[in-house]
Amino acid sequence: MKHLALLVVAALTISCAYKEKISLEQYRPQVHFSPQHNWINDPNGLVYLDGEYHLFYQYNPYGTTWGHMSWGHAVSTDLVNWEELSVAIEEYLDPTTGDSTMIFSGTTAVDVNNSTRLCTKPGCLISIYTSHLHRDNQGLRQHQSLAYSNDKGRTWKRYNNNPVLDIDRKDFRDPKVFWYPKHEKWIMALVIPDLYKVQLYESKDLLAWNLMSEFGPAGDTLRIWECPDLFELPVEGQPGKTHWVLSLSGSHPAGSTFVGMQYFVGEFDGTTFSSTQTQPRYVDFGKDYYAGIVFNNIKDRTIMLGWVNNWTYANQIPTSKWRGMFSIPRELGLKETAAGLRLTQHPVKEWALTHVEELKSISELQSQTFELEVELREGGGIHLFKSGTEQTTIGLRDGKLFLDRTKSGRVDFHNDFSSVESVAIEPKPEKLTVRIMADQSVIEVFTADGLYTITDQVFPTHTNPGVEVFGGAEVKKIWNSGRKELIN
Ligand code: FRU
Repeated sequence: MKHLALLVVAALTISCAYKEKISLEQYRPQVHFSPQHNWINDPNGLVYLDGEYHLFYQYNPYGTTWGHMSWGHAVSTDLVNWEELSVAIEEYLDPTTGDSTMIFSGTTAVDVNNSTRLCTKPGCLISIYTSHLHRDNQGLRQHQSLAYSNDKGRTWKRYNNNPVLDIDRKDFRDPKVFWYPKHEKWIMALVIPDLYKVQLYESKDLLAWNLMSEFGPAGDTLRIWECPDLFELPVEGQPGKTHWVLSLSGSHPAGSTFVGMQYFVGEFDGTTFSSTQTQPRYVDFGKDYYAGIVFNNIKDRTIMLGWVNNWTYANQIPTSKWRGMFSIPRELGLKETAAGLRLTQHPVKEWALTHVEELKSISELQSQTFELEVELREGGGIHLFKSGTEQTTIGLRDGKLFLDRTKSGRVDFHNDFSSVESVAIEPKPEKLTVRIMADQSVIEVFTADGLYTITDQVFPTHTNPGVEVFGGAEVKKIWNSGRKELIN
């Protein structure tokens, strides 16, 4: 009994210390996933299996900047509270050549029929990733390889006959693999980044791949293409009507110009993706939404999450023992607008779990983690995280929604960080209702039925919620937000 009591006291002490640590660490988001330690970039292998959402991600087990890329791993039962597990698939050395292979971005699929014969029983997890072979920090070759797990992602083995797809190219990466039931086959979409091409392959067993078609160059080709995804979405208000969406990310050359994700709406017939779209369409209009992909093996909804960062300054953001976080998981849809079909994004319904309490007044806000619904008027807006001359401003000007982070606090760590994002809202509104999720060093804004989002990082030098409206903006709803383990 005495031992039990001691154990309980010890557990409470540890858990309190843990709470303190998370809540007090500067810039640590409380309701967005960030790793306890080290660097992360792209989400990888998003998959749902037996009640668990798996979030794998590009992870450096040895430091807070990019390197030694491996797959980190976290799981959740509700898409909000994540448990970080040990590294899933690690960078490895070839014992004969001494060359290292990093585990770049890719997918995880549930091999329901044991088509690979790698499952001890049907339904094991197969990850298909880019094996990035390099020597002295120089990329030599990128090919696609497999690893498999028979214990729900806790331990992984690399397939003996890797790579499974090699076209003898230095840049050839980011396979997204999904099951296409109509033809009972697997599809892989991946990019040749420097040629702005997405290639589509098919396979019966995930091991032997056959090239079917190519898409691109098209849309925005200002920056190399990375991290493609291909998925079918329902059209809002038109039961039974669907279209296919090809999404991808584009970045790398430094500069403050637009960086992020674009998408194409079109058709996929099992072999070819086609789109009549001529102008680029963007997923998010902020600077910090990248490499988003959707979950595999979820039946009734399509959920994407992205890396909240930007390659231009990703390695320099002023966080301490960790670097990088993931966005709110977003449920995707399509909506017919005057300008044609557009992607819609809404925080998953589970995001309501982050609400601690609804408040009556902004003066009751306690921290920099909160959610607001605000009605903006032309010429007006709202300051967040305001203290003295420091502030981040969201407003409506000339029919454009904008987020201004030029005075948001630490902007000194990179010349291109200070920026104003904006997007023209169609049709031009006099009033606009926005949902704002603020979480220490990230702000996500959703508006117009999810047709526009802006995701930006900010690094205030103080901890005040600092919310102040101007120009007739009205705050309609206010929540204190937080994470279960921080609140209970
Ligand atoms: C995108 C990316 C991918 C690559 C990974 C490497 O952010 O450049 O193309 O697989 O990061 O970490």
